[in-house]
Amino acid sequence: MALTDANPSATPVSSTPLGGVAGWPTGLTGLGYGGDYNPEQWPQATRLEDVEMMIEAGVNIVSVAIFAWATLEPDEGQYEFGWLDEMMDRLHAAGIRVALATATASPPPWLTARHPEILPQLADGTVLGQGGRQSYAVTHPVFRQYALTMATVMAERYKDHPALALWHVDNEIGCHVPRDYSDAAASAFRSWLAERYGSIDALNEAWGTAFWSQRYSAFEDILPPRTAPTYANPTQQLDFDRFSSRALLGYYQDLRDTLRAITPDVPITTNFMASTGTKGMDYFDWAAELDVISNDHYTGADNDDRHIELAFSADLTRGIGGGRPWILMEHSTSAVNWQPRNRTKAPGEMLRNSLAHVARGADSVMFFQWRQSAAGAEKFHSAMVPHAGRDSDVWANTVALGQALRDLAPVQGSTVRSRVAMVFDYEAWWASELDSHPTQELRYLDQAQALYKQLWLRGVSTDVVHPGADLSGYDLVIVPTLYLVSDADAANVAAVAERGGTVLVTYFSGIVTPEDHVRLGGYPGAFRDLLGVRTEEFYTLQATETVTVSGGGPLAGTYSADLWTEKTHLTGAQAVAVHDDGALAGLPAVTRNAVGSGSAWYSATRFEEAGTAALVEAVLADAGVTGEIEAPAGVEVVRRHGADGASFLFVLNHTDAEASVKASGLDLLTGSTATGDLTIAPGAVAVIQES
Ligand code: GAL
Repeated sequence: MALTDANPSATPVSSTPLGGVAGWPTGLTGLGYGGDYNPEQWPQATRLEDVEMMIEAGVNIVSVAIFAWATLEPDEGQYEFGWLDEMMDRLHAAGIRVALATATASPPPWLTARHPEILPQLADGTVLGQGGRQSYAVTHPVFRQYALTMATVMAERYKDHPALALWHVDNEIGCHVPRDYSDAAASAFRSWLAERYGSIDALNEAWGTAFWSQRYSAFEDILPPRTAPTYANPTQQLDFDRFSSRALLGYYQDLRDTLRAITPDVPITTNFMASTGTKGMDYFDWAAELDVISNDHYTGADNDDRHIELAFSADLTRGIGGGRPWILMEHSTSAVNWQPRNRTKAPGEMLRNSLAHVARGADSVMFFQWRQSAAGAEKFHSAMVPHAGRDSDVWANTVALGQALRDLAPVQGSTVRSRVAMVFDYEAWWASELDSHPTQELRYLDQAQALYKQLWLRGVSTDVVHPGADLSGYDLVIVPTLYLVSDADAANVAAVAERGGTVLVTYFSGIVTPEDHVRLGGYPGAFRDLLGVRTEEFYTLQATETVTVSGGGPLAGTYSADLWTEKTHLTGAQAVAVHDDGALAGLPAVTRNAVGSGSAWYSATRFEEAGTAALVEAVLADAGVTGEIEAPAGVEVVRRHGADGASFLFVLNHTDAEASVKASGLDLLTGSTATGDLTIAPGAVAVIQES
């Protein structure tokens, strides 16, 4: 959550969030710029050229040694640090700060060959072998010991090195193996459960094991939810999700504590993947353990709204970090190589992508990776220095972005302020998509992003926050499909309406307790009183079925909806839209409940795009919220605010046409002054230091 005028009681933005360590890479001034740097892939001559080219591009921070374990320790206990010593010295001499990795992200072949027991397993028992990367079970004590030793060796060697600015723990922890079903994981799961529940009776109660003869008599009999004849116990699955996120975090914490003991003043991070598709780790739960939040983001080649998905990811990252500036640790200069069909970025797209992250709070822009590999599994993944070398668009873009980030130095430390929050919860995500539900097609993230898109299109700045976050300063709080919610979080949402704010809750929300037990008496359980409705039964739709819904007042019009409908009765709310057809003809589909001086809206169905747009318009109007400034369709407008009263208006033109907005001030990118009217070329970006 951002520290905002509108949100005075929110947690203050802190520069020293943990352990007295400043929350930013030491010695990094201005906005950060750089990428993963893997000199171990290159001969000396190239390494020398690398530093020259980094200076030319304005690089001031690189992540080093992420995948260097096998190079640094070619055989057990035999270390070869000479090349890294030299590289650290050279980077330092060039004024480039180093985010030094623990080098643990991929165990060397000698380790997995000698200790195959550290390999992780899938639910069906398949062992994930060596030869790729991340082939380790974080819970295996043997692996843990080797990783801690490697981190200790790194920290002892470089603790006094002047280039060391930040520790980069492992890499995208949980990326390839978010859930490990090995025996090591099973044993750790049992210990975690024993601690969580205290007694086997409490676990039986929480898991509802009276069903299907699943009653346990001892923790020793419990396994991870491995492949079974049919659905595994849902609460067991959910607890395994919780445990797995915590186990991965525990691995991070162990490495962090090791580094902290040796280098108490060096901040520590690990790179998150807070974006589409990554649901394994509860980053809201992880955030407090990091000194600096960093995130990796890649756009989806087949997503026409990829710039909007990018904005969602950036707003989520900022929300995870409590509004603090964060590091974009990885994105790509052009195409990636791991999607079914990859996409080369269009002219201007890389700059727009980078500055869209900056607009939403990133104070450092980094890439995977500095130099495009000549060999290995990522040789067709773009980089800052492409295969083609200097004579290329990509290199020209790399240099131009470096210049742009230098020009934007004044924005460093400024923050985004939002009047709208969207609550987002990893536990609700896990639980809502469990098997054995009314439909297998419900997608939590899709619903959140469909609503978010409508906010983005209207230029409304949105903080994506945990349902337990301080919501006291927001005028509008949107609650997409929050299937699982605690009593406390439900009360937190209700308080928004009670104090005069507007709340929108969408279908299949408030259904279960954190144990995944249904809240009896009618849906949407935890939100029934707030919303003034009672749903008696779900009516999920088949793939070919849609319904039409007609509204009045702010929702006037007829809209199409699919996938999900509910037989909903009014118990205090008023119907804003009703079903025109189908089994629920005449019954409410959208309701509004007056609560104190505020209001609580419920959408009992999944609208297609036009209906979602109308719904978001209606609740924005109810809350009195408008976009940052008026802007043509496809022009993204975001404002960052400095502590000194300065403000920076980012205007990103995602269209093929010239666009104009009202703005006054100095364009930090061009040095020209806007006096009321600002014209932005197709695909271009302006950042106005407002007067
Ligand atoms: C990330 C990873 C990098 C690189 C990149 C490619 O997931 O951290 O090492 O593989 O993807 O897009």
